[in-house]
Amino acid sequence: MKKLNRLYLGTNTKMYKTIADTASFLTQLRQLTEDLADSPLTLFVIPSFTSLESANRITSRSHIRLGAQNMCWEDQGQFTGEISPVMLKEVGVSVVEIGHSERRHVFREDDFDQEKKTAKAAQSGFTPLLCIGETLIQREYGLSGETLSTQLKVGLHSITGEQAKHLWIAYEPVWAIGTGKTATAEQAQEIHAYIRKVLAAKFGAAAEECPILYGGSCKPSNAAEIFAKEDVDGGLIGGAALKAEDFVAI
Ligand code: 13P
Repeated sequence: MKKLNRLYLGTNTKMYKTIADTASFLTQLRQLTEDLADSPLTLFVIPSFTSLESANRITSRSHIRLGAQNMCWEDQGQFTGEISPVMLKEVGVSVVEIGHSERRHVFREDDFDQEKKTAKAAQSGFTPLLCIGETLIQREYGLSGETLSTQLKVGLHSITGEQAKHLWIAYEPVWAIGTGKTATAEQAQEIHAYIRKVLAAKFGAAAEECPILYGGSCKPSNAAEIFAKEDVDGGLIGGAALKAEDFVAI
């Protein structure tokens, strides 16, 4: 039986859309999904920082939640190139993506960075969306479980039981992101169940309510089968959602 009776579906537009691109994407998405406003679906879009202000004007009176791709763990200070929680609040962000694979592997952020960010996001009243995932080599060496549990234990170290009620997790195997290779529905279920077990060990019953989303080459042809699995509560989509009509197809 499905753990949650709600589907969480979001897209991270990475570094693909300008302000104008994002505005036209969101306008179209809002129109195409108006009839889903009252359905048990949480729809969210995570555009680039420069698009957030205008994106907020389009999403603020809609059913679409707005997310940010990253966040600093301090409100202000000598952090050139960073974005503070206060600044994200100002532009209507409610979800903050933390520890995306590209942040970890291209920009060398580690689990301790994610810990500070999840803690700050939770304290600031955002929904922290902690992204975790193993690389191909970790998978081949049988280290998926160890990798994911380390990412969860360190990344969520400072999160309290109360804060855990507002936490979302995305499982995004690094080998599946942007590669066209997707975890099978069975692989996704096995890993998601494992993630829920690690969450339960720390947060008890709150783990049952924590949405665990799958990401990594998710597309219309594989989404339904993956999302149908007991511990998969939705998806975080990249490439296959760049056009609003394709996102809606998922
Ligand atoms: P793709 O769907 O392009 O594999 O990207 C997934 C992702 O990284 C979402 O955050």
